[in-house]
Amino acid sequence: MVAAAHLMPSDFEAKPFVKWVGGKRQLLPSITRLIPELGKNAVYHEPFVGGGAVFFHRQPRRAFLTDSNERLIRTYRGVKKDVEGVIRLLRSYPHEKRFYLEMRARDIDADDDVDVAAWFIYLNRTGYNGLYRVNSQNGFNVPFGDYKNPTICDPDNLRACSRALRGARIERRDFESVLGRAKRGDFVYFDPPYIPLTATSRFTDYTSEGFGDAAQVRLRDVALELKARGVSVLLSNSSAPRVYDLYAEDFDCVEVDARRSVNCKPNGRGRIPELLIR
Ligand SMILES: C[S@@+](CC[C@H](N)C(=O)[O-])C[C@H]1O[C@@H](n2cnc3c(N)ncnc32)[C@H](O)[C@@H]1O
Repeated sequence: MVAAAHLMPSDFEAKPFVKWVGGKRQLLPSITRLIPELGKNAVYHEPFVGGGAVFFHRQPRRAFLTDSNERLIRTYRGVKKDVEGVIRLLRSYPHEKRFYLEMRARDIDADDDVDVAAWFIYLNRTGYNGLYRVNSQNGFNVPFGDYKNPTICDPDNLRACSRALRGARIERRDFESVLGRAKRGDFVYFDPPYIPLTATSRFTDYTSEGFGDAAQVRLRDVALELKARGVSVLLSNSSAPRVYDLYAEDFDCVEVDARRSVNCKPNGRGRIPELLIR
């Protein structure tokens, strides 16, 4: 009966199994309202998948998920292919600083996707703030988080995620490669590293490559080409003036408040407006 238990309706609700900078959970209602109904053969594309909050919420039947972070992509594959193997490994990992430091130093890239997934989830759950940061040799270097009782393994959610990933192709790619796949009637949600609101913001440091203005312009051009092709496009970004420069002429820009559902202060303090561009 264990297998049947995996199919209980509550298991169908999936949420990201990693904490990820820029996670979209608070904005889900505003975002999902702007996602069109997908036709029978339509494919959902998410070229900056990160934690995948929108994908897991929407659970499209057919999807193409990509990201430039190879270990993250291998983690998705491990969870998709052998979620029980990932759960077994996670359950065997103790929450101890010494073990964390050993894991962090492990040469993980030579191992298989299930090992990479357990390694990635463990470090994400027990490392400081769920950050993903590497040094110039691609060595993971986030300090131990020292949390009291972190959820290292949530088996029900991991199983729900694995299920949601069944119809997904998952590859490490640059976002521009979506042009080789998306066709009329498909839907693309782009959640790129944001254009910083202030010059000191460091939120563009997602990978060693960074994501500067040239990449933002390239992204806008990709969105324009998709639009011309009849692909529905939705894009998140900050409300920096540069974002309006890039998009206001050809797209509809909607300002949304990341905190609205939690705390709507009339004086606007604590508001973090973002843009949804379609
Ligand atoms: C804002 S995060 C995505 C957040 C995600 N939507 C969520 O809900 O957690 C941006 C992602 O873009 C990826 N990325 C950065 N540069 C990229 C590129 N050139 N092509 C594809 N992905 C890229 C990063 O690895 C990171 O996962």
